[in-house]
Amino acid sequence: MIIRIFNTREELDRYAAQFYIDTIAAKPNATLGLATGSTPIGIYEKIVERYKSGDVTFVNVTTFNLDEYVGLPPENEQSYAYFMKHHLFGHIDIRQDRTYLPNGMAADPAAQCAHYDEMLAAQPVDVQLLGLGHNGHIGFNEPDAELHGGTHVVQLKQETLEANARFFSSMDEVPKQAITMGVGSILKAKTILLVVKGADKADIVKRALQGPITTECPASLLQTHANVIVLLDQEAGRNL
Ligand code: F6R
Repeated sequence: MIIRIFNTREELDRYAAQFYIDTIAAKPNATLGLATGSTPIGIYEKIVERYKSGDVTFVNVTTFNLDEYVGLPPENEQSYAYFMKHHLFGHIDIRQDRTYLPNGMAADPAAQCAHYDEMLAAQPVDVQLLGLGHNGHIGFNEPDAELHGGTHVVQLKQETLEANARFFSSMDEVPKQAITMGVGSILKAKTILLVVKGADKADIVKRALQGPITTECPASLLQTHANVIVLLDQEAGRNL
């Protein structure tokens, strides 16, 4: 595991954007695993800037997002499909039919999950971007006695609902379920880029990277992966 701590978030975001540009330069048809939430927004901004400068093209790139809320259509501004369009896909030359997210509106969620895993198996992820939840979740794999390997429907924990509530006008509107890639699917990525920002995540960063490997902290399973790069700002890395 490589851990890099940056003086500023700006430097971190630039570094991550460059990492993606280098990945695509080396493999123009790369498969990228993407995340939503506040952490990657700055990275996506930098990627869009670099695209507009002509430094990268996404015409042959495929993307898979980690997760999507159940019950929100892509037009809903709180859906992750909308988020991705707003922050990244709408600004770059990626083919929209190569940007995959779990379908939170699927009539048969179990079939949708199986289909997502089949697509992931056919186009394995080269670089998976991850944020980190305060409770150690990755994707929406919440701490539990057992974890799922593959894509599945998850009941979000109270602390996650509360963290997500900041994007909704009331707590009642926050979806209680999501479809997420499982920890097994995440660990299949060739390289994992874990990005964490902010003092409020310093404790969970330490647990995830240096604590025991346990399903009660799903991110701790990243310690078993051969190629994880962790990008932290000073605040998130202050307990290491
Ligand atoms: C988002 C995701 C989540 C977030 C995590 C951190 O696709 O899968 O695991 O990465 O909840 O969220 P932020 O970045 O908002 O602190």
